[in-house]
Parts: sequence; structure tokens; C-alpha cells
Amino acid sequence: MLNIVQNIFSGSWVEPDWLAAVAMLQGAIIAVLAFALWRQRRNEKTLQRAEDEARQIVASSPVGICVVSNRRFVYVNNTYVKMFGYSSADEIVGRFVEELYTPDERRRQRQYAKDRPAGKPVPEIYDTKGLRKDGSHFDVEARVSLIEYNGQSSSLGFVIDRSVEKRLRRQLENANRLEAIGTLAGGIAHDFNNILTAIIGHAELATFRVGDNEVVREDLRHVRQAGLRAKDLVQQILTFSRSREAKTQLVNVASVVREVMGLVRAALPNSVEIRASLEDDSLINGDPTQIHQLLMNLCANAEHAMRGSGGILEIGLKGHTVTTAFADAYSDFVPGHYLSLIVADNGPGIPEEVIGKIFEPFFTTKEPGVGTGMGLAQVHGIVKSHGGWVRVENIVPHGARFIITLPVVSARPDVDSQKGDLPSGTESILIVDNDEMVAGVTARILTGLGYSVHVCRDSLPALTRVTASPDTFDLVITEAAMPVMTGEQLARTIFSVRPDLPVILCYGFHGDVDEIKVSRQGIRAFMEKPVSKVRLAETVRSVLDESSRVDTSLLTEACQVD
Ligand SMILES: Nc1ncnc2c1ncn2[C@@H]1O[C@H](COP(=O)(O)OP(=O)(O)O)[C@@H](O)[C@H]1O
Ligand SMILES: [Mg+2]
Repeated sequence: MLNIVQNIFSGSWVEPDWLAAVAMLQGAIIAVLAFALWRQRRNEKTLQRAEDEARQIVASSPVGICVVSNRRFVYVNNTYVKMFGYSSADEIVGRFVEELYTPDERRRQRQYAKDRPAGKPVPEIYDTKGLRKDGSHFDVEARVSLIEYNGQSSSLGFVIDRSVEKRLRRQLENANRLEAIGTLAGGIAHDFNNILTAIIGHAELATFRVGDNEVVREDLRHVRQAGLRAKDLVQQILTFSRSREAKTQLVNVASVVREVMGLVRAALPNSVEIRASLEDDSLINGDPTQIHQLLMNLCANAEHAMRGSGGILEIGLKGHTVTTAFADAYSDFVPGHYLSLIVADNGPGIPEEVIGKIFEPFFTTKEPGVGTGMGLAQVHGIVKSHGGWVRVENIVPHGARFIITLPVVSARPDVDSQKGDLPSGTESILIVDNDEMVAGVTARILTGLGYSVHVCRDSLPALTRVTASPDTFDLVITEAAMPVMTGEQLARTIFSVRPDLPVILCYGFHGDVDEIKVSRQGIRAFMEKPVSKVRLAETVRSVLDESSRVDTSLLTEACQVD
């Protein structure tokens, strides 16, 4: 070959001998073959790359894709695997197509998988219900067409998970229906309230006028009692229809949850375990009494669902953000920070056929006398009047989960800001509160205002401190509801040691403390939780100032007597 080339260049290519010709031909053939091989390789690589790319596109498509031959899965993409709750395609490939659908959908799936390749008419687009590996159901939209796969007439399916969309649509329909019922019920309840006021009022008047006729008095007592019961019911309807006035203030939902948990724990049988995970202590703008009511209603239902069987009552509090994109997609939501309160049980769950009705007033599946059907109606009304929404879902394998989402006002109270114009001082204050977070926040605010602060997490250690050195403190701020000794009892015992030590009583809800009765015992002020920074600063200063005035006046009085 080299010779030939050399000959060509040297000009000696005049009479090629046949050997040289053969060599040249050989060379040409080799060159052509090499070129063909190179082209084939390149084509193969291109083909391979194209195949890889196609596979990647199919695998990472946001739509679930499957191929079914002879009624069995022969291919599923990643999205399909994940959508049905599996971890790899191997778990699905080889199985009958109907196995991945709910029992009431299986016949249809089997029929379609048989009829389609046989050329019989089968819908190309339809809604069905998928069955996840964990047994839960979800709404599926399927689009199926016929293809040739590995030489066999097969079905190519594209599936989309429509559960979120369907759930939101159902919620919206429910919300609209409940809104209409609420307006109607609210109107009637208002009229009823007036009628009942007249009935109760006249029954009371008649009781005064009837004199000593015991029989009539007893009858009138029954009229009044029945009237009061009806009034209570009307109040519940008014809460549902949101016509009841809410007393809004900043509410720390986590504190309310802790209070309710204290009550619920005492009421639950040992067979029910409470698990709480309160991850967020943001504030909402709302009515603490109503939030308390809402939680009690949910816990009461959970307890009823687990009655006899026992189980776990889960109470959770989590913060989350609704993004602008989400809010744009679902016009019912406003972007911002929200707090989700979750109450879950592992009772039997809620049957699909009633789940859409449970928030309606008077809907109950319980026996007469056991359920009134007003619990969740109230929950719904309260959530709506707080600008939030409520969602319910069944848990696999059994149980129900209620998720209440409420808009957050501010992430945390601004305890570290400067003193500003707030009244301050340097006196020594003892804080007694079994709620670590509340005690911590109060202590930080007061320390920030210049006071010297001591915290006790229970009444007994607090009492020990005061009795050990009665003059150490200028003021005690105590929580009312504590397990061993209530705030009121603590105050009484403190007064027996040091009658002039001012005490402020804090309490969680309206009605928990009879302020008039308790103030007669010497309590100087009350603060309803959650206490704002301004309210705390002002109350503390005014109680301290008043107490020093009382002291000086006592001194003056004493001087005059002398
Ligand atoms: N945690 C739960 N588990 C199962 N079913 C529930 C649960 N909570 C509520 N329900 C269903 O919702 C219905 C309405 O609840 P509710 O409004 O509180 O009224 P009531 O408790 O008086 O029946 C109940 O009767 C029950 O069928
Ligand atoms: Mg109930």
C-alpha cells in the first residue's frame, strides 16, 4: 500500500503490476469498510442516544404511563410507580391491571383491558379510582389508546392523579351548600332567640307572681329549663351560621391546645393514648373560647370513635405557607402564613357516603341522646369566622383526621423589642406558671422592662420561696389553673404569710375565674391569656404603684391613730 502511494507521488505510477492493483483494491475495500463501520457506529450511538432520551422523557413525565399486554402490566414509568405508592416498577410489572384499582372498579378495568386489543368499543378517556400500595384510594383520570408493543396489540395508558383537584372541588361545593344552610339557620335562630327570651322571661315573671302554688312553680321551672336548653341549641346554631359575635384577640393556639389536652387527658380512658406534637406557637386573631370549643368538639368525636377499641388521639400544630402560585391556582386561598391544627384518631373512620354531610347542622350517625349533630357544624362556623378552612380525610388502615387551617397574625410576640414608651420598673416579680412557654415569654418581657424576675413552674415551689423569705418579692403573677394547688389557693396561702403582697391572677378562658368573687379575696388584678406586652406592662406597673400607695396610706393612717 505504501509502495503504491509512494509510486503515485514519485510519478513512477506508469505500469502498475497486478500485485500493486490487488493491494490497492484491498486498501480501498478496507477504507470503505472502515467508513461503513464508523457510520454504523455513529448511527448506533445516535440511535442509542435518541432511545435514552426518549426513555428519559417517558420516565420523568409528570403523567403516569403504562403499557398493558394480555391484561398485565408490561411497562410502567416512575410517575406511575410513585402515584400508586410503590417503590419500583418491578413491583407492578407482571401484575393484572385491575389489581391497581379499587374493588368496585376492577370489573370495568378487566373488561376494558380485554376488549380494547380485541377492537371492541371502549372509552378512551374516563375517570376511575386507583388503589395505592398502602390501601388508600385516589381519583384517577385515564386516557388509553391502542399500540403495538413487542409485536402485540397492547394498551398504552396515561393516568393523572386528580384527587387534590377533586377534593378542592368537593370542598367548594360543600362550602357553598353549608353557606346557604348557615344563612337560613342563622335567620331562624335569631328569631328563635327572641321567642325564647320571651318564653324564659315570662316563665320567670310568672314564677314570682304565682305565690306558693308549688305545683305551678314546678311546671314553670320545667318551662324555664326547657327554654334554656333550647337557647343553648340556638347558640350552637348561631356559632355554625357565624352570626354569633366572636371576641377577637391575639390567641396562642398552642396554649389553648395545652389547656384542652389537660381536660381531655383527664376524661379519656386509659386505652386511649394522647400524642401531641405542637411545632408552632404562632398567634392568630381569634376568640380563644371558640378555639377551645372547636378542639373540644373534635376531641369528643375522636374519643367516641375510639370508644371500646382504644387507640391513639393525635393532636398536632404545624405552620405552613400558602404560596402565591398555589393561591393563584386555587382562588379560594389567600397567600400567607397559616397554622394547621390536626386532630386524628384511629377509630373506624368516616364512611365515604356520609363524609360530605358531617359538617351540616344536626347531621349525626349517633343514637338519639348521644349525638346532636352540632359539634362539627360549630367547628365549621368557628373556622370560617376565623378566616380559615377545615378538611377531613380518612386514614389508612382506619381512622379520621381533621385539619383546621387558620391564618397567622404574627410568628411570635415581639418580646425583644425596646422598652419604648411602656411603663417599666425595677421591682422583684415572681411568675408562677406550669406552661413553660408562657412563663418564658412573660419573664422575657418583664426582664426587658427592667424588673428582676423569678420563675416557678408550680405553685408548691413558689409557696416555698415566698414563705422562706416573704419580703423578697414585690409582686406575684400566677396562672389560675395548676394541677396541685390552683392560683387562687396559692394566693390565699401567700396572703396568710404576707397579706400585702400583690397577686395578679392569669387565666385562660372567660368563665374560668369568677373575677368578682376572687377579687374579694385580695387578688389585685386579672389578666386573660394570651396577655399582650402592653397589657402586661401596664397591669404590672399599675398594681405595683397602687400597692405602694396603699402601703403609704396605711402608714399615714397608722400615724394618725397614734
Ligand atoms: N373522628 C370521627 N370518626 C368517625 N366519625 C366521625 C368522627 N367525627 C365525626 N364523625 C361523624 O360525623 C358526625 C357528625 O359529628 P358531630 O357534628 O360532632 O355530631 P355528633 O358527634 O353529635 O354526632 C358523627 O355523627 C359521626 O358520624
Ligand atoms: Mg360530636
